[in-house]
Amino acid sequence: MKKTTIQASSDIALIKYWGKKDEVLRLPENGSISIILSGLDTVTTVEFREDLIQDQVFIQGEEIENVSIEAQRVSKHLDRMRDLAKERKITGANWFAKVVSKNTFPRGTGLSSSGSGMAALTYAAARALGLDVSEKELSILSRQASGTACRCVCGGFVEWLDGDTSDTSYSHTIFSKEHWDIRDVVAVVDEGRKKISSTEGHTTAQTSPFFKVRQDRIKQKIELVKQAIAEKNFTELGKIVEAEALEFHSILLTSEVPLILWYPGTVQVMHEVQKMREEGIECYFTINTGFNLHILTLPEFEAEVNQRLFALPLVVKTLTATIGDKPKEISEHLF
Ligand code: PMV
Repeated sequence: MKKTTIQASSDIALIKYWGKKDEVLRLPENGSISIILSGLDTVTTVEFREDLIQDQVFIQGEEIENVSIEAQRVSKHLDRMRDLAKERKITGANWFAKVVSKNTFPRGTGLSSSGSGMAALTYAAARALGLDVSEKELSILSRQASGTACRCVCGGFVEWLDGDTSDTSYSHTIFSKEHWDIRDVVAVVDEGRKKISSTEGHTTAQTSPFFKVRQDRIKQKIELVKQAIAEKNFTELGKIVEAEALEFHSILLTSEVPLILWYPGTVQVMHEVQKMREEGIECYFTINTGFNLHILTLPEFEAEVNQRLFALPLVVKTLTATIGDKPKEISEHLF
């Protein structure tokens, strides 16, 4: 069976997925829109082997213990892929796999490493098993491992369709990466791992008194974002994206178990972004379930935004990303 290596990029949600209407299938309460980020990448090599007695997972050079939640999540996803291969009567469909993965950005800090990680795993496992699957099927499979991964199998500007069934909840590209050159400067204020995973957070979303208000308005918001992207109206897009990030965090703050995820550095970056805008440097922040921020800007402002953020006392480092493409197979294997 073929050893396969895939490079997949992470994404940043412009309109966030928060709350699930089906826990097991990971069907989201609402649709979402994101951009794929080249520069925040995961590379994963997968090989199914007859001689293995269990799956072996290495992340960032470290072997992950089989009993850990992380390794079990990987194995569970490999089982999904193996089940499909068994249905299609592929030889070796029941073999265990060696998986080696590495990221170019910190994982578990709210930068969607599970998105690029699970998208890379799905693609690599599908190719290694010789499965002939469409992008839609890859998206549906990835979704069951990580919501965000369902978008990371696509390229450019991506929409995840809400959907009431597994077959109707998948992502597709709404505009290719060539449509519009937007830049993302990531401000890392801490590289330590967050204490609560998104998987846990999603379960309390509905307990916020503002959740229903959000749901009532979200379809319209998605349409406005799509329109701003279609028209390449950065001011309009930025305003919606920043307001959406704050609305999303207001849900986190007012859920039954409040999630106060921001660090002092997070707020410092937010203030700097507002200040830059007052000075005519167009940029807008957004933030997922974590403390690190994504600052969207245009190519002409990127260098200055990067410099200003890096100069802040509470910013540890910055990373820059451009709009990325869907996962691709590469020839340099990790083992
Ligand atoms: O895919 P998960 O379970 O890590 O959830 C991601 C949720 C957000 O990042 C906050 C929003 C999103 O749409 O990416």
